[in-house]
Amino acid sequence: MEKGQDHGASGPARQKVCIVGASGKLGQYMVQHALDRGYEVAGVCRETSVPKLDAFRGRITLHPGATDDREVIKRAVDGCDAVLTVLVPRGVHGYATGTAQAVLDHAQPGARLVFSCGWHITLDGRDVYSWKIKALVKVAGPLARLARFADLDDQVEACRRVFASGTRWTVVRGSDLEEGDSQGLPVWSRHVGDPILHSNRTRRIDFALFMVEAIGNDDLVHEAPAIVGRQTLSALAHASATPGP
Ligand SMILES: NC(=O)c1ccc[n+]([C@@H]2O[C@H](COP(=O)([O-])OP(=O)(O)OC[C@H]3O[C@@H](n4cnc5c(N)ncnc54)[C@H](OP(=O)(O)O)[C@@H]3O)[C@@H](O)[C@H]2O)c1
Repeated sequence: MEKGQDHGASGPARQKVCIVGASGKLGQYMVQHALDRGYEVAGVCRETSVPKLDAFRGRITLHPGATDDREVIKRAVDGCDAVLTVLVPRGVHGYATGTAQAVLDHAQPGARLVFSCGWHITLDGRDVYSWKIKALVKVAGPLARLARFADLDDQVEACRRVFASGTRWTVVRGSDLEEGDSQGLPVWSRHVGDPILHSNRTRRIDFALFMVEAIGNDDLVHEAPAIVGRQTLSALAHASATPGP
């Protein structure tokens, strides 16, 4: 796919969405959901990952480059009504923070901004974490940093900047993920530790669905929903315990 070339059909009323981190597993699902909904799609991914998007050739505009490259992001988000960003704390050089800051700075005013991260991110400090999540952050986190593989604090800082921004943001906090067919739109809660989230499992395809659906859901502006699959035991138990209309 040629750099910056428009491969998609265009129409005057079509909304344009940029997907930052389009070549990853979550990103590819988001591309598909966005196309299914009729959005014009622009994507950003590392140069080496361009072939991972071959299946979408001719249907999206691709901007190859690092997602924390401000010039790449500036071009990619130009004219976009929404930007969906995969925040990945890879390496120890503030990759997620640089990515988030570039999107915050260059997205057009009023654009809908949706970011992905994990349950370990907290908006108001009122999340209640299991020992497993605490261990992951306290033990695996420093080990990953020591190996210069990943830096969880980078995603924390990225989200802190998003929360403090004056943009129309949503930060979607993913549970543990699995592959498989869609089970529909995940359910969510404001706080990790709430019973509905107990199963801690979401299909990746549905995480992507939640990200794309958030574009049109103004109730999610300035929220950090923690999500879980709608067919999980905890979600079903919550649904059966909740009185109907
Ligand atoms: N994995 C989980 O269980 C889990 C749980 C909760 C939340 N999440 C969240 O879900 C989102 C997607 O995560 P995922 O684990 O499912 O992976 P993913 O969708 O495959 O995304 C990984 C991303 O990291 C990029 N990447 C890989 N190596 C890199 C490197 N060395 N330098 C820079 N970028 C690199 C990939 O780009 P390329 O395509 O160019 O390699 C891709 O965009 C993240 O926001 C994560 O925090 C994940």
